[in-house]
Amino acid sequence: MTPVVTDCQVWWLDPAHAPRWCEELLSEPERARAESIHRGAARRRFVTATALVKVAVAVTSGGDPGGVEILRACPDCRRLHGRPVVAGGTPYVSLSHSGDRVAVALCADAPVGVDVEQVDADIDVDAMVPFVLGAAERPAFRAVRGRSARVEAFLRCWTRKEAVLKATGDGLRIPMPGVTVGAPYGPARLTGFAGRPELPGTTRIADLRAEPGYLGAVTVLTARPVRVIELDGLDAFAATAERHGGS
Ligand SMILES: CC(C)(COP(=O)(O)OP(=O)(O)OC[C@H]1O[C@@H](n2cnc3c(N)ncnc32)[C@H](O)[C@@H]1OP(=O)(O)O)[C@@H](O)C(=O)NCCC(=O)NCCS
Repeated sequence: MTPVVTDCQVWWLDPAHAPRWCEELLSEPERARAESIHRGAARRRFVTATALVKVAVAVTSGGDPGGVEILRACPDCRRLHGRPVVAGGTPYVSLSHSGDRVAVALCADAPVGVDVEQVDADIDVDAMVPFVLGAAERPAFRAVRGRSARVEAFLRCWTRKEAVLKATGDGLRIPMPGVTVGAPYGPARLTGFAGRPELPGTTRIADLRAEPGYLGAVTVLTARPVRVIELDGLDAFAATAERHGGS
């Protein structure tokens, strides 16, 4: 029987709390990519996110994280920085990192996209509006009073749109104003997607309970209701640590 509700897990982790052995889960190409990232914080985010995808998939499927292969070929340049796909196809996965947060989303039934953004009070949101919000979205944004509320409203829309574009696999190749997600303080939903009128009816977006100072959203390409389960990534590592021989 087809389930009525689609489950989507979102695993959160601060890279500073990831176990040291998580680096051992990386494949040779993943290690090479990690070594090419010069900024320490960005490198830790990449290593943590890659390892967290593997342990989360292993915890969900009952396998060994070392046996989880992630394919990432970029369709533009073939380098290994494109959409992550677990070898074998499922579960569908997505990842995002910003500041001290890594988010990994898993869904067994449908493509998923996740985005987390650290709230930067200094960003010039008014200058970015034409490149991010559609004409129909701008009045609700302009009605938001106060600088920090405007930054939050803007990033709320941004995370929803980026989560949608990661679920479709387009990424930022598609201009964000063509993807409309409704008012920032209203319910998260896709109201339009330029050139793909079927998508609003087959896409579910949910805002996430990110830590203070962060905003996040997840999208699943399904018409069914989605139940989002937010989890602590440390629990996934703990569940696999014994098998791995680390802690
Ligand atoms: C995907 C994208 C929106 C991510 O933006 P971001 O906010 O900087 O970064 P996030 O941390 O939220 O997400 C990064 C992750 O998105 C994933 N990703 C990359 N391309 C993706 C795509 N087309 N669809 C879904 N997910 C994608 C990767 O897992 C990446 O993680 P990694 O860098 O550790 O491999 C952006 O990088 C993008 O649009 N890329 C594709 C277009 C592009 O730049 N092409 C030129 C490359 S030659």
